[in-house]
Amino acid sequence: MYSPVKLTALALIFAQLLGAIHCGVYDNTDNWVISDKTKNFPENAVLGGFDPEGYRSFVGRVLYLTSVVPARIRAETAYVTFNTESVANTATFYEVLVSNATLSYQWVHSFDGFMEDNAVCVGTSSSDERVYICRAKTDGGLFIGTLYLAQRTCIIGYENLPLRKFEKYEVLVRKHKSVKWIPFDNQIN
Ligand SMILES: *[C@@H]1O[C@H](CO)[C@@H](O)[C@H](O)[C@H]1NC(C)=O
Repeated sequence: MYSPVKLTALALIFAQLLGAIHCGVYDNTDNWVISDKTKNFPENAVLGGFDPEGYRSFVGRVLYLTSVVPARIRAETAYVTFNTESVANTATFYEVLVSNATLSYQWVHSFDGFMEDNAVCVGTSSSDERVYICRAKTDGGLFIGTLYLAQRTCIIGYENLPLRKFEKYEVLVRKHKSVKWIPFDNQIN
């Protein structure tokens, strides 16, 4: 027979295993298109900034080890970069965020890990935290970065530049547009 202490310990271990399964899970609230350099770039991709070479950066996401994090996509060459809280890297498989007739996106000023309404979540980190999309100006670019609310900073790592952390930044939020049906009679006026 197991003692109550052993049972509690087993229950705790089991709970931790369950928790671990949730890491690196994609959030499916928004529309993400699976892509790589062989595919046409989606037309309604969401613009996020520009890199120091002057190319536009579109909003993407990648799965890196057990974390889902935002990515910067250079549409012209499918050059994709991203960073976690400790690593900056490039990716060849990624997803592109797209808008549609009723769902669009905008950047709002934010700070200190404040939870903005309708912030776009890419998925969960290795510590099972929800990960959001931020951006800030630095090093000659406007960079899409990684926002862990608990760290209260927008973290940006690009190529060999040192990891930068910003307490003031912008956050990507979704905006629902209602498509109003206009009766034909009213349009004649
Ligand atoms: C836009 O995407 C959202 C989320 O997937 C979906 O619920 C909505 O129906 C889409 N709108 C149109 C016009 O396709």
